[in-house]
Amino acid sequence: MTGNFIPLKIAGVGYSVPKTVITNEDLTKLYETSDEWIYTRTGIKERRVVSGNETAIDLGLDAAKKAIEKSGIDVNSIDCIIGAASAPPQLYPTLACTMQDRLGIKKHIPAFDLTAACTGLIYALQVARGFIGTGVYKTILIVAADNNSKITDWSDRSTSILFGDGAGAMVVTASEDGIDDILSIDISANGSIGQMIQTNMPSQCCPLVEQADAIGSGKIIMDGKEVYKFAVTTVPRYVEHCIELSGKTAEEIDYLIPHQANQRIIEAIQNRLKYSDDKVISNIKYYGNTSAASIPIALAEGVEQGKIKLGSTAVLCGFGEGMTWGGAVVRLRKGIC
Ligand code: UT7
Repeated sequence: MTGNFIPLKIAGVGYSVPKTVITNEDLTKLYETSDEWIYTRTGIKERRVVSGNETAIDLGLDAAKKAIEKSGIDVNSIDCIIGAASAPPQLYPTLACTMQDRLGIKKHIPAFDLTAACTGLIYALQVARGFIGTGVYKTILIVAADNNSKITDWSDRSTSILFGDGAGAMVVTASEDGIDDILSIDISANGSIGQMIQTNMPSQCCPLVEQADAIGSGKIIMDGKEVYKFAVTTVPRYVEHCIELSGKTAEEIDYLIPHQANQRIIEAIQNRLKYSDDKVISNIKYYGNTSAASIPIALAEGVEQGKIKLGSTAVLCGFGEGMTWGGAVVRLRKGIC
């Protein structure tokens, strides 16, 4: 970046997943399916879901605390919170405002959610970059937390096999050493194909006027085949484009950390980049698709499990409802998770 653009540091990353595990075998109690069918088509063996009064807020808070701790910042130095959620437990107060409250931040700072579904983390990172780069804010907390299980149609065997709950968080700050951790970032959307994945909220008109024909169910409706085609045709090429923007070659980048939607989609990107398995972070087998949280979960868990060595670079990419997509080539400093 040229001019007076202030470089950004990725200072801390955290994640949190619920304890309750639902295996493919468990799903056979709901409808006719099999572990073999689900695993061969998606790479998923199990997913985590919230239960009882647990929500994405609890997961988001846990992930945020871990990211804050890793970043070493004082919680009161956070001057903006961005929530990225496609299935928040409530429309408002927003995830971000609730995080401000639950973290005990008394200072009046901006806190808002953006909705870019499974691309939410990359969208939030781009927005944070704009704020930090232009000196508007110095320390931003991004929280990506989703309760997909609450908006999944558990009678639909082609969608409910895919999703899980989880949260990821990232603290980004103005970089004191002048090194920018964002080598490239890009976000995009095509609303004309947005009907591929829809969640139409239950709604009503004023009782004094004509009522609308359709009332949404509040559940995810997805044309899985079309989403799959979109993902394998658009995303691998796009990841290459994001790498080109960074001025690096694919070989020079250490890891691919993709949105975890389907193992076959991850492999399509992997094949395009000609990456060996050890460069590709996949944990879809254990968590399914956790929407915006999937990239930070894969990153922080990858470090925890020793699959990712910090002091490295990675290409992140997300895609999903909208349809939206986004990618970033980032520097992963030591100690961030
Ligand atoms: O962030 C959101 C991103 N979303 C995605 O990435 C989803 C991308 N799409 C996919 O991953 C795949 O489309 C699915 C895994 C969702 C579905 O695989 P598919 O090969 O596209 O299956 P299909 O929906 O075309 O269904 C094929 C057959 C159908 O039976 P008939 O009509 O051929 O007799 C379905 O009824 O498979 C049947 N089927 C199942 N059978 C056993 C659908 N779901 C199941 C199931 N178990 N769970």
